[in-house]
Amino acid sequence: MKKKIISYALIVLAITLVAIQFVHPARNLSGEVTNDICTKYPMPDTVKSILKASCADCHSNHTEYPWYANIQPVAWWLEDHISEGKRELNFNNFAAYRIGRQYHKLEKIAKEVNEGDMPITSYTIIHSYAKLDEGQRKLVADWANSLHDSIKATYPADSLKVVKRKPAN
Ligand code: HEC
Repeated sequence: MKKKIISYALIVLAITLVAIQFVHPARNLSGEVTNDICTKYPMPDTVKSILKASCADCHSNHTEYPWYANIQPVAWWLEDHISEGKRELNFNNFAAYRIGRQYHKLEKIAKEVNEGDMPITSYTIIHSYAKLDEGQRKLVADWANSLHDSIKATYPADSLKVVKRKPAN
C-alpha cells in the first residue's frame, strides 16, 4: 500500500514537472533605453562595462538569459529576481525617477557594492565573472558617490527627501 502511494505521488510529480515546462513567464527583453541613466548623467566607460556585466541582468530592460532559464521552476525563480531587482533599481529607466529617488538610489548603489551585497550571491555562484573585485567596487562606488554629491549641490534639500511609496495594489 505504502509503495503504491509513493509511486502515485511520483507519477503526479513527474506529470506536474512536465506540465509546468509549457508555462513561461514574460521575458525581460524590451531593451527600452529612452530614460537610461546615461541620458542624464555622465558614466565612465569602466563603470558602464561593470554595470553591464554585473548588474544589467536584474537592473535593466534587457536580461541575457542562460539556457537553464528555459527550465521550470528555475525560470520562475529567475523572473522573480529580475522583476524585484528592476522594481528597486532600473538603470534603463533611471532618468525618469523623481530626483529624490535618484539621489537615494545612488547612495544605495555605493553602499550595496561596498558591502559586497550586490550582485547577489546566488547569481555570482553561477556567473563568477560578475563578482566585483576591490578595484571595481571602488570605481562604481566613487562614481555613484560623486553623482550623489553633485545632485546634493544642485537641488534643494526638500526635493531630495525620501518619499515612502504606497504599497502596490
Ligand atoms: C541576479 C539579480 C541581481 C543582480 C545581478 C544585481 N542585483 Fe541588485 N538587486 C536584486 C534584487 C532582487 C534586489 C532587491 C532585493 C534586495 O535588496 O536584496 C536588488 C536590490 C538592489 C539595490 C537596492 C535598492 C534599494 O533601494 O534598496 C541596489 C542599489 C542594487 N540592487 C544594486 C545592484 C548593483 C550595483 C549590481 C551590480 C554590481 C546589482 N545590483 C546586481 C537583484 C540583482
